[in-house]
Amino acid sequence: MHSVLLIFIVLNCLLWCFQGQTASVSSNHPRLPMPLHSISAEHISKDFYYAIEKSDRSKDKLQRKLLHFFENLQKNLTMSTVLSDFGKSDTSAENYIVRIHELLKFFYEASNVFEEFSNDVEKFYEASKNSSHALLLKLRQVPTAQPKYVKVLLTNYFAEMEFFNIMFSEIVNDAMEYTVGTLTAIQKIFFYYAEAQSFILHNWKLKLNLECRELYVDFLQHHSAKIFECAAGHNLELTYDVYAVTKLNVKYIMKQLEFRIQRLFNCFIFGSYAIQCTFLNNADRDFENLFIKLAELEMYLDIKTKTGLVSVLRRRRGRDADEFTKADSIIDKCLLNDFPRNQISNRLKGCFYNF
Ligand SMILES: *[C@@H]1O[C@H](CO)[C@@H](O)[C@H](O)[C@H]1NC(C)=O
Ligand SMILES: *[C@@H]1O[C@H](CO)[C@@H](O)[C@H](O)[C@H]1NC(C)=O
Repeated sequence: MHSVLLIFIVLNCLLWCFQGQTASVSSNHPRLPMPLHSISAEHISKDFYYAIEKSDRSKDKLQRKLLHFFENLQKNLTMSTVLSDFGKSDTSAENYIVRIHELLKFFYEASNVFEEFSNDVEKFYEASKNSSHALLLKLRQVPTAQPKYVKVLLTNYFAEMEFFNIMFSEIVNDAMEYTVGTLTAIQKIFFYYAEAQSFILHNWKLKLNLECRELYVDFLQHHSAKIFECAAGHNLELTYDVYAVTKLNVKYIMKQLEFRIQRLFNCFIFGSYAIQCTFLNNADRDFENLFIKLAELEMYLDIKTKTGLVSVLRRRRGRDADEFTKADSIIDKCLLNDFPRNQISNRLKGCFYNF
Protein backbone atom coordinates (compact mmCIF):
# COMPACT_ATOMS: atom_id res chain seq x y z
CA MET A 1 0.00 0.00 0.00
CA HIS A 2 2.74 2.41 0.99
CA SER A 3 4.92 1.64 -1.97
CA VAL A 4 2.01 2.12 -4.39
CA LEU A 5 1.37 5.53 -2.90
CA LEU A 6 5.04 6.38 -3.11
CA ILE A 7 5.22 5.41 -6.78
CA PHE A 8 2.14 7.48 -7.44
CA ILE A 9 3.68 10.50 -5.79
CA VAL A 10 6.99 10.10 -7.57
CA LEU A 11 5.32 9.70 -10.96
CA ASN A 12 3.23 12.77 -10.39
CA CYS A 13 6.27 14.69 -9.31
CA LEU A 14 8.08 13.72 -12.50
CA LEU A 15 5.11 14.90 -14.52
CA TRP A 16 4.87 18.18 -12.67
CA CYS A 17 8.55 18.90 -12.50
CA PHE A 18 8.70 18.47 -16.25
CA GLN A 19 5.65 20.62 -16.94
CA GLY A 20 6.85 23.19 -14.48
CA GLN A 21 10.12 23.48 -16.29
CA THR A 22 8.66 23.79 -19.75
CA ALA A 23 6.17 26.34 -18.52
CA SER A 24 8.75 28.49 -16.80
CA VAL A 25 11.08 28.34 -19.79
CA SER A 26 8.39 29.33 -22.24
CA SER A 27 7.15 32.15 -20.08
CA ASN A 28 10.61 33.58 -19.38
CA HIS A 29 10.16 33.32 -15.67
CA PRO A 30 13.12 32.61 -13.52
CA ARG A 31 12.94 28.90 -12.98
CA LEU A 32 11.29 28.09 -9.70
CA PRO A 33 12.64 25.30 -7.63
CA MET A 34 10.10 22.51 -7.58
CA PRO A 35 9.55 20.63 -4.37
CA LEU A 36 10.92 17.15 -4.29
CA HIS A 37 7.71 15.68 -3.06
CA SER A 38 4.59 17.04 -4.51
CA ILE A 39 1.11 15.70 -4.62
CA SER A 40 -0.54 16.33 -7.89
CA ALA A 41 -3.95 16.12 -9.42
CA GLU A 42 -5.50 16.91 -12.72
CA HIS A 43 -6.93 20.37 -12.35
CA ILE A 44 -8.45 20.89 -15.77
CA SER A 45 -11.75 19.16 -16.20
CA LYS A 46 -12.07 16.40 -18.79
CA ASP A 47 -15.05 18.31 -20.17
CA PHE A 48 -12.70 20.96 -21.44
CA TYR A 49 -10.66 18.50 -23.50
CA TYR A 50 -13.76 16.69 -24.59
CA ALA A 51 -15.28 19.95 -25.84
CA ILE A 52 -12.16 20.65 -27.91
CA GLU A 53 -12.23 17.21 -29.45
CA LYS A 54 -15.87 17.49 -30.29
CA SER A 55 -15.63 20.87 -31.97
CA ASP A 56 -12.56 19.72 -33.89
CA ARG A 57 -14.49 16.74 -35.15
CA SER A 58 -17.38 18.93 -36.25
CA LYS A 59 -14.98 21.21 -38.05
CA ASP A 60 -13.49 18.28 -39.93
CA LYS A 61 -16.93 17.06 -40.83
CA LEU A 62 -17.84 20.47 -42.18
CA GLN A 63 -14.66 20.71 -44.21
CA ARG A 64 -15.30 17.29 -45.70
CA LYS A 65 -18.84 18.24 -46.58
CA LEU A 66 -17.77 21.39 -48.40
CA LEU A 67 -14.76 19.87 -50.13
CA HIS A 68 -14.79 20.02 -53.94
CA PHE A 69 -18.08 21.83 -54.00
CA PHE A 70 -17.42 23.69 -57.24
CA GLU A 71 -16.16 20.60 -59.05
CA ASN A 72 -19.16 18.60 -57.87
CA LEU A 73 -21.53 21.34 -58.86
CA GLN A 74 -20.00 21.39 -62.31
CA LYS A 75 -19.99 17.62 -62.57
CA ASN A 76 -23.48 17.08 -61.27
CA LEU A 77 -25.18 19.78 -63.24
CA THR A 78 -23.62 19.87 -66.67
CA MET A 79 -26.17 19.10 -69.33
CA SER A 80 -24.28 16.05 -70.53
CA THR A 81 -24.53 14.54 -67.05
CA VAL A 82 -28.09 15.60 -66.65
CA LEU A 83 -28.99 14.24 -70.08
CA SER A 84 -26.85 11.15 -69.86
CA ASP A 85 -29.64 9.05 -71.37
CA PHE A 86 -30.01 11.38 -74.29
CA GLY A 87 -32.64 10.20 -76.70
CA LYS A 88 -34.71 8.41 -74.09
CA SER A 89 -36.42 11.50 -72.84
CA ASP A 90 -38.26 9.82 -69.95
CA THR A 91 -35.15 8.60 -68.20
CA SER A 92 -33.19 11.77 -68.81
CA ALA A 93 -36.01 13.79 -67.26
CA GLU A 94 -35.85 11.48 -64.28
CA ASN A 95 -32.11 11.86 -64.08
CA TYR A 96 -32.58 15.58 -64.21
CA ILE A 97 -34.96 15.55 -61.26
CA VAL A 98 -32.54 13.39 -59.30
CA ARG A 99 -29.73 15.86 -59.95
CA ILE A 100 -31.58 18.91 -58.85
CA HIS A 101 -32.79 17.13 -55.74
CA GLU A 102 -29.24 16.16 -54.92
CA LEU A 103 -28.25 19.80 -55.04
CA LEU A 104 -31.17 20.74 -52.82
CA LYS A 105 -30.21 18.02 -50.37
CA PHE A 106 -26.62 19.19 -50.37
CA PHE A 107 -27.63 22.65 -49.17
CA TYR A 108 -29.95 21.29 -46.48
CA GLU A 109 -27.28 18.90 -45.22
CA ALA A 110 -24.50 21.46 -45.28
CA SER A 111 -26.75 23.82 -43.36
CA ASN A 112 -27.11 21.17 -40.64
CA VAL A 113 -23.39 20.60 -40.47
CA PHE A 114 -22.81 24.34 -40.07
CA GLU A 115 -25.24 24.31 -37.19
CA GLU A 116 -23.48 21.38 -35.55
CA PHE A 117 -20.10 23.07 -35.76
CA SER A 118 -21.55 26.29 -34.47
CA ASN A 119 -23.09 24.52 -31.46
CA ASP A 120 -19.94 22.60 -30.66
CA VAL A 121 -17.66 25.57 -30.99
CA GLU A 122 -19.95 27.50 -28.68
CA LYS A 123 -19.75 24.69 -26.14
CA PHE A 124 -15.98 24.73 -26.39
CA TYR A 125 -15.86 28.45 -25.65
CA GLU A 126 -18.25 27.99 -22.74
CA ALA A 127 -16.16 25.12 -21.42
CA SER A 128 -13.05 27.32 -21.61
CA LYS A 129 -14.67 29.99 -19.49
CA ASN A 130 -15.90 27.37 -17.06
CA SER A 131 -12.50 25.82 -16.86
CA SER A 132 -10.74 29.10 -16.13
CA HIS A 133 -13.32 29.86 -13.47
CA ALA A 134 -12.99 26.41 -11.93
CA LEU A 135 -9.23 26.85 -11.68
CA LEU A 136 -9.72 30.16 -9.95
CA LEU A 137 -11.99 28.54 -7.38
CA LYS A 138 -9.31 25.97 -6.64
CA LEU A 139 -7.36 28.72 -4.95
CA ARG A 140 -10.04 28.71 -2.27
CA GLN A 141 -8.98 25.20 -1.38
CA VAL A 142 -5.62 26.26 -0.06
CA PRO A 143 -5.56 25.41 3.68
CA THR A 144 -6.79 28.42 5.60
CA ALA A 145 -4.63 28.20 8.69
CA GLN A 146 -1.82 30.44 7.44
CA PRO A 147 0.09 33.29 9.02
CA LYS A 148 -1.53 36.64 8.42
CA TYR A 149 1.01 37.96 5.92
CA VAL A 150 0.63 34.80 3.86
CA LYS A 151 -3.12 35.29 3.84
CA VAL A 152 -2.64 38.79 2.50
CA LEU A 153 -0.38 37.50 -0.25
CA LEU A 154 -2.90 34.81 -1.11
CA THR A 155 -5.67 37.36 -1.30
CA ASN A 156 -3.60 39.43 -3.72
CA TYR A 157 -2.85 36.39 -5.79
CA PHE A 158 -6.51 35.49 -5.90
CA ALA A 159 -7.42 39.04 -6.96
CA GLU A 160 -4.88 38.95 -9.77
CA MET A 161 -6.16 35.64 -11.02
CA GLU A 162 -9.74 36.77 -10.69
CA PHE A 163 -8.98 39.81 -12.83
CA PHE A 164 -7.28 37.59 -15.36
CA ASN A 165 -10.31 35.31 -15.40
CA ILE A 166 -12.60 38.26 -16.13
CA MET A 167 -10.44 39.48 -19.01
CA PHE A 168 -10.12 35.98 -20.34
CA SER A 169 -13.89 35.47 -20.35
CA GLU A 170 -14.42 38.76 -22.17
CA ILE A 171 -12.03 37.84 -24.91
CA VAL A 172 -13.41 34.35 -25.25
CA ASN A 173 -16.83 35.97 -25.57
CA ASP A 174 -15.55 38.09 -28.45
CA ALA A 175 -14.21 35.07 -30.27
CA MET A 176 -17.44 33.23 -29.60
CA GLU A 177 -19.63 36.06 -30.78
CA TYR A 178 -17.74 36.32 -34.01
CA THR A 179 -17.46 32.60 -34.70
CA VAL A 180 -20.98 31.62 -33.76
CA GLY A 181 -22.46 34.71 -35.44
CA THR A 182 -20.75 33.99 -38.73
CA LEU A 183 -21.49 30.28 -38.72
CA THR A 184 -25.13 30.93 -37.92
CA ALA A 185 -25.36 33.41 -40.78
CA ILE A 186 -23.90 30.92 -43.25
CA GLN A 187 -26.17 28.20 -41.94
CA LYS A 188 -29.21 30.42 -42.47
CA ILE A 189 -28.17 31.33 -46.00
CA PHE A 190 -27.70 27.70 -46.97
CA PHE A 191 -31.01 26.79 -45.45
CA TYR A 192 -32.81 29.66 -47.11
CA TYR A 193 -31.33 28.76 -50.47
CA ALA A 194 -32.43 25.13 -50.08
CA GLU A 195 -35.92 26.30 -49.10
CA ALA A 196 -36.06 28.55 -52.16
CA GLN A 197 -35.19 25.63 -54.43
CA SER A 198 -37.74 23.45 -52.73
CA PHE A 199 -40.37 26.16 -53.10
CA ILE A 200 -39.68 26.51 -56.82
CA LEU A 201 -40.01 22.79 -57.40
CA HIS A 202 -43.15 22.32 -55.38
CA ASN A 203 -45.03 25.50 -56.07
CA TRP A 204 -44.00 26.85 -59.42
CA LYS A 205 -43.69 23.47 -61.13
CA LEU A 206 -41.05 23.26 -63.77
CA LYS A 207 -41.79 22.22 -67.35
CA LEU A 208 -39.50 19.41 -68.30
CA ASN A 209 -38.79 20.13 -71.95
CA LEU A 210 -35.18 20.37 -73.02
CA GLU A 211 -34.97 24.16 -73.19
CA CYS A 212 -36.44 24.61 -69.72
CA ARG A 213 -34.20 22.00 -68.19
CA GLU A 214 -31.22 23.76 -69.62
CA LEU A 215 -32.32 27.18 -68.43
CA TYR A 216 -33.04 25.99 -64.92
CA VAL A 217 -29.77 24.10 -64.63
CA ASP A 218 -27.91 27.23 -65.71
CA PHE A 219 -29.81 29.23 -63.14
CA LEU A 220 -28.96 26.73 -60.40
CA GLN A 221 -25.30 26.53 -61.34
CA HIS A 222 -24.90 30.26 -61.40
CA HIS A 223 -26.65 31.00 -58.12
CA SER A 224 -25.34 28.00 -56.21
CA ALA A 225 -21.78 28.99 -57.01
CA LYS A 226 -22.43 32.62 -56.19
CA ILE A 227 -24.16 31.98 -52.90
CA PHE A 228 -21.61 29.40 -51.83
CA GLU A 229 -18.72 31.73 -52.58
CA CYS A 230 -20.34 34.69 -50.89
CA ALA A 231 -21.41 32.85 -47.74
CA ALA A 232 -18.76 30.20 -47.28
CA GLY A 233 -15.74 31.72 -48.98
CA HIS A 234 -13.69 34.35 -47.22
CA ASN A 235 -15.97 34.51 -44.16
CA LEU A 236 -15.54 30.87 -43.47
CA GLU A 237 -11.76 30.90 -43.90
CA LEU A 238 -11.60 33.69 -41.37
CA THR A 239 -13.84 31.79 -38.99
CA TYR A 240 -11.62 28.71 -39.18
CA ASP A 241 -8.62 30.93 -38.45
CA VAL A 242 -10.22 32.62 -35.49
CA TYR A 243 -11.26 29.26 -34.10
CA ALA A 244 -7.79 27.75 -34.53
CA VAL A 245 -5.88 30.67 -33.04
CA THR A 246 -8.28 31.06 -30.12
CA LYS A 247 -8.13 27.36 -29.38
CA LEU A 248 -4.35 27.34 -29.38
CA ASN A 249 -4.16 30.27 -27.00
CA VAL A 250 -6.87 28.98 -24.72
CA LYS A 251 -5.13 25.63 -24.38
CA TYR A 252 -1.85 27.32 -23.57
CA ILE A 253 -3.45 29.62 -21.04
CA MET A 254 -5.28 26.76 -19.36
CA LYS A 255 -2.06 24.79 -18.97
CA GLN A 256 -0.37 27.82 -17.49
CA LEU A 257 -3.16 28.38 -15.00
CA GLU A 258 -3.09 24.75 -14.04
CA PHE A 259 0.63 24.98 -13.50
CA ARG A 260 0.20 27.97 -11.22
CA ILE A 261 -2.45 26.24 -9.14
CA GLN A 262 -0.36 23.14 -8.74
CA ARG A 263 2.69 25.15 -7.76
CA LEU A 264 0.67 26.92 -5.13
CA PHE A 265 -0.75 23.70 -3.75
CA ASN A 266 2.68 22.20 -3.57
CA CYS A 267 4.14 24.86 -1.38
CA PHE A 268 1.24 24.90 1.03
CA ILE A 269 1.05 21.18 1.36
CA PHE A 270 4.54 21.17 2.77
CA GLY A 271 4.29 24.46 4.60
CA SER A 272 7.50 25.69 3.05
CA TYR A 273 6.13 28.82 1.40
CA ALA A 274 9.04 31.00 2.44
CA ILE A 275 11.25 29.06 0.02
CA GLN A 276 8.83 27.65 -2.49
CA CYS A 277 6.32 30.43 -2.85
CA THR A 278 8.39 33.48 -3.71
CA PHE A 279 6.10 34.07 -6.68
CA LEU A 280 3.37 34.91 -4.17
CA ASN A 281 5.20 38.11 -3.27
CA ASN A 282 4.62 39.45 -6.71
CA ALA A 283 1.33 38.36 -8.16
CA ASP A 284 1.31 40.87 -11.06
CA ARG A 285 4.66 39.69 -12.18
CA ASP A 286 3.52 36.08 -12.02
CA PHE A 287 0.58 36.83 -14.32
CA GLU A 288 2.35 39.28 -16.58
CA ASN A 289 3.06 36.83 -19.36
CA LEU A 290 -0.46 35.54 -19.34
CA PHE A 291 -1.84 39.05 -19.67
CA ILE A 292 0.50 39.65 -22.59
CA LYS A 293 -0.75 36.48 -24.23
CA LEU A 294 -4.31 37.62 -23.75
CA ALA A 295 -3.58 41.07 -25.16
CA GLU A 296 -2.06 39.48 -28.24
CA LEU A 297 -5.13 37.36 -28.74
CA GLU A 298 -7.36 40.38 -28.34
CA MET A 299 -5.37 42.31 -30.91
CA TYR A 300 -5.51 39.41 -33.31
CA LEU A 301 -9.28 39.18 -32.96
CA ASP A 302 -9.63 42.92 -33.40
CA ILE A 303 -7.65 42.88 -36.61
CA LYS A 304 -9.20 39.75 -38.05
CA THR A 305 -12.74 40.71 -37.34
CA LYS A 306 -12.11 44.20 -38.66
CA THR A 307 -12.09 47.81 -37.60
CA GLY A 308 -11.77 47.26 -33.91
CA LEU A 309 -15.35 46.11 -33.86
CA VAL A 310 -14.57 43.60 -31.17
CA SER A 311 -13.64 46.18 -28.58
CA VAL A 312 -16.59 48.32 -29.54
CA LEU A 313 -18.76 45.29 -29.00
CA ARG A 314 -17.18 44.61 -25.66
CA ARG A 315 -17.87 48.08 -24.43
CA ARG A 316 -21.46 47.82 -25.50
CA ARG A 317 -22.16 44.27 -24.50
CA GLY A 318 -24.93 43.82 -22.05
CA ARG A 319 -26.59 47.06 -23.00
CA ASP A 320 -27.46 46.76 -26.66
CA ALA A 321 -25.41 43.90 -28.00
CA ASP A 322 -28.28 42.69 -30.12
CA GLU A 323 -28.25 45.88 -32.09
CA PHE A 324 -25.34 44.74 -34.16
CA THR A 325 -25.59 41.36 -35.73
CA LYS A 326 -22.92 40.35 -38.14
CA ALA A 327 -25.23 37.56 -39.23
CA ASP A 328 -27.73 39.97 -40.70
CA SER A 329 -25.15 41.83 -42.71
CA ILE A 330 -23.83 38.62 -44.29
CA ILE A 331 -27.33 37.44 -45.08
CA ASP A 332 -28.20 40.74 -46.73
CA LYS A 333 -25.07 40.65 -48.81
CA CYS A 334 -25.38 37.07 -50.03
CA LEU A 335 -29.10 36.65 -50.51
CA LEU A 336 -30.12 39.15 -53.10
CA ASN A 337 -33.24 41.16 -52.83
CA ASP A 338 -36.34 38.95 -52.97
CA PHE A 339 -34.49 35.90 -54.16
CA PRO A 340 -35.40 34.00 -56.32
CA ARG A 341 -38.29 35.98 -57.78
CA ASN A 342 -36.16 38.92 -58.91
CA GLN A 343 -33.34 36.83 -60.30
CA ILE A 344 -35.30 34.66 -62.69
CA SER A 345 -35.09 35.71 -66.33
CA ASN A 346 -38.23 36.15 -68.40
CA ARG A 347 -37.35 33.14 -70.47
CA LEU A 348 -37.02 31.01 -67.35
CA LYS A 349 -40.28 32.39 -65.98
CA GLY A 350 -41.99 30.87 -68.98
CA CYS A 351 -40.70 27.50 -67.83
CA PHE A 352 -42.93 27.32 -64.79
CA TYR A 353 -46.55 26.32 -64.85
CA ASN A 354 -47.41 28.48 -61.84
CA PHE A 355 -45.02 31.38 -61.79
C1 LIG B 1 -23.26 15.79 -56.47
O1 LIG B 1 -23.77 14.45 -56.53
C2 LIG B 1 -23.37 13.63 -55.48
C3 LIG B 1 -23.96 12.26 -55.72
O2 LIG B 1 -23.77 11.83 -57.04
C4 LIG B 1 -23.87 14.19 -54.17
O3 LIG B 1 -23.42 13.39 -53.09
C5 LIG B 1 -23.34 15.58 -53.98
O4 LIG B 1 -23.87 16.16 -52.79
C6 LIG B 1 -23.71 16.44 -55.17
N1 LIG B 1 -23.10 17.75 -54.99
C7 LIG B 1 -23.69 18.86 -55.40
C8 LIG B 1 -22.97 20.13 -55.12
O5 LIG B 1 -24.76 18.88 -55.97
C1 LIG C 1 -20.44 25.65 -17.64
O1 LIG C 1 -20.88 25.86 -16.33
C2 LIG C 1 -22.27 26.03 -16.19
C3 LIG C 1 -22.59 26.41 -14.77
O2 LIG C 1 -21.67 25.92 -13.91
C4 LIG C 1 -22.97 24.73 -16.64
O3 LIG C 1 -24.35 24.87 -16.55
C5 LIG C 1 -22.58 24.42 -18.08
O4 LIG C 1 -23.13 23.19 -18.47
C6 LIG C 1 -21.09 24.39 -18.24
N1 LIG C 1 -20.81 24.30 -19.66
C7 LIG C 1 -19.85 23.56 -20.17
C8 LIG C 1 -19.75 23.54 -21.66
O5 LIG C 1 -19.07 22.92 -19.49
